[in-house]
Amino acid sequence: MPQDTLIVSNWKMNLNLIDAKKLIHQISNLALPINKKIKNVICPQFLLIPLISKLIEGTEIILGSQDCHQKINGSFTGDSSIELVKEFGCKFVIIGHSERRKNYNESNNLIREKANLVRKFGLSPIICIGESLYERKKKDFLQVISTQLNECVEPKEEVVIAYEPIWAIGSGLTPTIDEILEIKNFTLSFLKKEKDSKKITFLYGGSVDSKNYFNIVSNTNINGALIGGASIKKDEIKKILTKSYFN
Ligand code: PGA
Repeated sequence: MPQDTLIVSNWKMNLNLIDAKKLIHQISNLALPINKKIKNVICPQFLLIPLISKLIEGTEIILGSQDCHQKINGSFTGDSSIELVKEFGCKFVIIGHSERRKNYNESNNLIREKANLVRKFGLSPIICIGESLYERKKKDFLQVISTQLNECVEPKEEVVIAYEPIWAIGSGLTPTIDEILEIKNFTLSFLKKEKDSKKITFLYGGSVDSKNYFNIVSNTNINGALIGGASIKKDEIKKILTKSYFN
């Protein structure tokens, strides 16, 4: 697979003002060079976005959000609009994370609607897919993945997919290299054949840390990772970023 590497930090609902500021300073102090082939994307919770968009000025850090509403504005108490996400400089939006699918009953159709709005505003949606442990054990996972791809992905578009098996998220478990390769190959051929997708970026997420990141990415030849827990640990994210940029 040619092209770019995306290292996406999903901070989830973590870090207060002081800790977020500290972590951004620590990452900026790594003085990572601007590298057109690597994108260091940080996705904080919404209330941190205005602060972080200021703090990252002049650095190579790219801002993203963890979600947005499917409409531009309106009577949607408690939701956040893509318009503001864009105004604060976000370039990526994570869509359809399994925690949102589970906690807010987000459907594949809703995810496609959100992804289309994100694209309409000129940002890139990162569409999350992945099976449960039950589905993997039942050997239903390719069916689950194909339904998710079919219903979430708009045809003829550039697409960023994050494959995050639900059982790997926050569990310390990761699929084998062969298991990731199987999903990657399945996803690429499905999207080319069924969706005529233009450019496909394939990420893996679920218990990625500094010890397994390079093994996973180099042995599967994927485009990077969506990193949760390890992305808010200074030493972990530092190791992943410095080795990626300087090796
Ligand atoms: P994790 O989370 O790295 O903590 O497993 C990844 C994610 O949920 O995006």
